[in-house]
Amino acid sequence: MHGARLGAQPCTVRFAGISLAPGESHRERGKTEQQHWGGCRGYVREKAARTTISGDYAAATRAAAADADAACCCAMGWAALLAVAVAVLAALPTALEMLLARSFPVHRSGGVFVTGASSGIGRHAAVELARSGYRVFGTVRKEADADALRALGVENLEPVICDVADTAAVAQAVAAVTAALAGEPLVAIVNNAGISNDLPLEIQPLASVRQVFDVNYFGVLDVTQQFLPLLRKTGPGARIVTIGSLAGTISAPGTVAYSGTKVPVCTLCTR
Ligand SMILES: NC(=O)c1ccc[n+]([C@@H]2O[C@H](COP(=O)([O-])OP(=O)(O)OC[C@H]3O[C@@H](n4cnc5c(N)ncnc54)[C@H](OP(=O)(O)O)[C@@H]3O)[C@@H](O)[C@H]2O)c1
Repeated sequence: MHGARLGAQPCTVRFAGISLAPGESHRERGKTEQQHWGGCRGYVREKAARTTISGDYAAATRAAAADADAACCCAMGWAALLAVAVAVLAALPTALEMLLARSFPVHRSGGVFVTGASSGIGRHAAVELARSGYRVFGTVRKEADADALRALGVENLEPVICDVADTAAVAQAVAAVTAALAGEPLVAIVNNAGISNDLPLEIQPLASVRQVFDVNYFGVLDVTQQFLPLLRKTGPGARIVTIGSLAGTISAPGTVAYSGTKVPVCTLCTR
């Protein structure tokens, strides 16, 4: 607020709803009032606008109101600038990711090899991919599961017996898929097969931990390595999809083996 001196006027006046004695500046009184109203400039400005005064006091009031307005606008300007800066910073990583992301052609047909198609996510993915027009080879370990998959009656979905922890079995699966495709491209593999054995480390048999690694991690590496020549023949757009887990980022009590396998699995693929 401007400090207009009222000493020239031998009277008591009201400024912004405050009684001022002759010689008293509204700056001094204003301070007290601002403290009283929690330092709210807007309130003082509003009070000044509502107060009827004349002559020099009117000019002083207008100046005080303009000053309060300017201060208000200045604060709002900084707040808006800060909000814009925060929004830009928050959006920057996503914008950069979108700008720099590599794009690949998407094959709408061709072969897809899905491991662990006897149940859960793998079975659902295999069925949906087949219904979308891909020729799907879903792995199972038991003949009964192969029959169950066939019994679904989904066209383009073929069971393949394969244990991903068995290198020779994976090689046989590659040969079977190559023969069945007969030159048609293999456009993707989905490394889905996985197991867990949730036990505290203290009572965890080491052989069981090794088995989880054999399926969840070494199985993924083996299947990927053995199918890569077929995927390379397909060229751009051929995909390797590997099912990770939140356990690859955060481990919970009892998941020492499972989390241990999902951490390196999560590092194999980009998002
Ligand atoms: N469900 C979830 O909430 C969740 C969350 C995050 C990540 N995941 C991951 O998603 C994937 C599928 O999980 P899910 O919940 O669908 O599990 P699921 O229903 O237990 O299915 C696991 C599949 O893997 C197969 N499998 C197990 N050992 C195998 C081996 N040695 N060789 C070949 N196949 C084998 C199983 O076949 P058999 O029937 O012959 O045993 C089954 O088809 C796993 O990698 C899992 O870690 C799941």
